Amino acid sequence: MKGLILAGGAGTGLRPLTHTGPKQLIPIANKPNILYCLEDVRDAGITEIGVILGENMPEKVEELLGDGSSYGVKITYIVQGAPRGIAHAVGCAREFVGNDPFVVYLGDNLLRGGIREMAEEFLEGDAEAQVALCKVPNPQRFGVAELDEDGNIVSLVEKPKEPKSDLALVGIYFFQESVFPIIDELKPSWRNELEITEAIDNLRTAGNLVKAHVVSGWWKDTGRPEDILEANQLILQDLETSIEGDVAEDVETRGNVSIGKGSKILPGSVIKGPVVVGENCEIGPKTYVGPYTSIGDNTRLVGGEIEDTIVVGDCVIDCGRRIVHSLIGRHSSILSSEGGKPAGHRLILGENSSVMI
Ligand code: G1P
Repeated sequence: MKGLILAGGAGTGLRPLTHTGPKQLIPIANKPNILYCLEDVRDAGITEIGVILGENMPEKVEELLGDGSSYGVKITYIVQGAPRGIAHAVGCAREFVGNDPFVVYLGDNLLRGGIREMAEEFLEGDAEAQVALCKVPNPQRFGVAELDEDGNIVSLVEKPKEPKSDLALVGIYFFQESVFPIIDELKPSWRNELEITEAIDNLRTAGNLVKAHVVSGWWKDTGRPEDILEANQLILQDLETSIEGDVAEDVETRGNVSIGKGSKILPGSVIKGPVVVGENCEIGPKTYVGPYTSIGDNTRLVGGEIEDTIVVGDCVIDCGRRIVHSLIGRHSSILSSEGGKPAGHRLILGENSSVMI
């Protein structure tokens, strides 16, 4: 079996973070989203992986993954270019896939529990395609499957206004080469994309067996800032304690905390896990870092409080305030203007930034 990981798409829902790189590289608990996908594919025993590149700084994906050898896989890069839909991206990989069965994993998806079991189920069965489904509270945002009492698929519809069920299509799909001629016949949808949901439904209505697998653990599509924060919480729930940096004697740490090499936690600080701090950070003195916070490498946090927040890295936060539920991009600084005249908040924000004061 081969693997395809999709790293294209415009990432408009995540601006300004996607002004400096593709959405698949946004760190969740200090690790780029796409690495979780790559590890899931590898851990299912698949080592030949095609990575589909889009137009938004694809070189950053190549820089991170290289030829795959540091992750124990062999990567072939395939250029999709303009975001013309998931089915279009899959179509670009026809030559790479050849006659092998393959899995498609959207690089902005996160699934607890990996894909090993699903991959085995697909290889052992005789289906032409297999989809993963997950119950969600807001199915209108996704592809939606309707199943009959025996678990057979009755319909698959992309972003229906009136969903027939609460079972969303997870961005993980298994195919045989039979999907390619079906993709060739697709027409662009209302959002001007070739829809993979439509391809799978066409495969099914043409008389092919398409199986559904309802996942038992959590699943997240990290398309919006609130999804990223939620994914961060879900990953941090399983964090293990690991202290490689220097923690001053009187620092209070509670719960699971991971502190990377070269980082220092200065006196009087409180770190209440789950919290992950990257490498070469300096936190403190007298700084509070609360649960579900991920601090990326080379960040300085001086005083104040921070909680349920992702700081991507190379940031300075020295404002003496309490920061919550925030996503702070690389090279950002949040400083204090206290005492300065005229009084007021001074902001230098990139396009599509959002601030709540
Ligand atoms: C895509 C698919 C959708 C699926 C979702 C999963 O949506 O079209 O069917 O449920 O991924 O992440 P998009 O991210 O393009 O809106």
